[in-house]
Amino acid sequence: MMATAILTQFPHARLTLFDLTTEMIDACRSRLDGSARITYHVGDFRTDDFGDGYDVLLASLSLHHLAVPERPAFYKRAFRSLAPGGHLITAEVIVDESPVVRERQYELWRRYMIAQGEDGNAWYQKHLAKDHPVEIATLVTMLSEAGFSAVGCLWRYLNFAIVSGYRAAV
Ligand SMILES: C[S@@+](CC[C@H](N)C(=O)[O-])C[C@H]1O[C@@H](n2cnc3c(N)ncnc32)[C@H](O)[C@@H]1O
Repeated sequence: MMATAILTQFPHARLTLFDLTTEMIDACRSRLDGSARITYHVGDFRTDDFGDGYDVLLASLSLHHLAVPERPAFYKRAFRSLAPGGHLITAEVIVDESPVVRERQYELWRRYMIAQGEDGNAWYQKHLAKDHPVEIATLVTMLSEAGFSAVGCLWRYLNFAIVSGYRAAV
């Protein structure tokens, strides 16, 4: 779990964990063993205040739930929530630039889900209905327009990518 790794590697770090569902926050609470360095917050990142002054904002496989038109306003809020010099690091579900490769990736994913005993087609339909992934270039443009500096892709594999940018210290 990312929070565990951060708590271990950065002994002075304090974390705010934010998610829409009490189920997810309760699952984190039960795995993180009551560390006094963690604040838990159930809320909607589209509308609720998620605080400010952060050195790092980590988003893990969650921002693809934002509709594309909602992203620019969210990124501006994310930018303002960082302390000068602070970084946004976001692990994203993305779509490939090529529609052909995109289809191949979805096919791999469907087969993977079926191999796990899941209904791959049902998950695919749910993904199409509820998720709004974009291309890396769109993310880079939106984050740059929101004010982030040095925006780029740190890592990419199939339809997953980690993108980062930072709030320049003025
Ligand atoms: C695929 S899960 C990832 C969970 C966790 N971040 C991880 O990496 O294991 C997506 C998460 O995004 C959360 N989420 C979706 N929409 C949200 C919103 N508007 N505000 C806050 N969290 C949201 C869901 O509740 C869910 O826990």
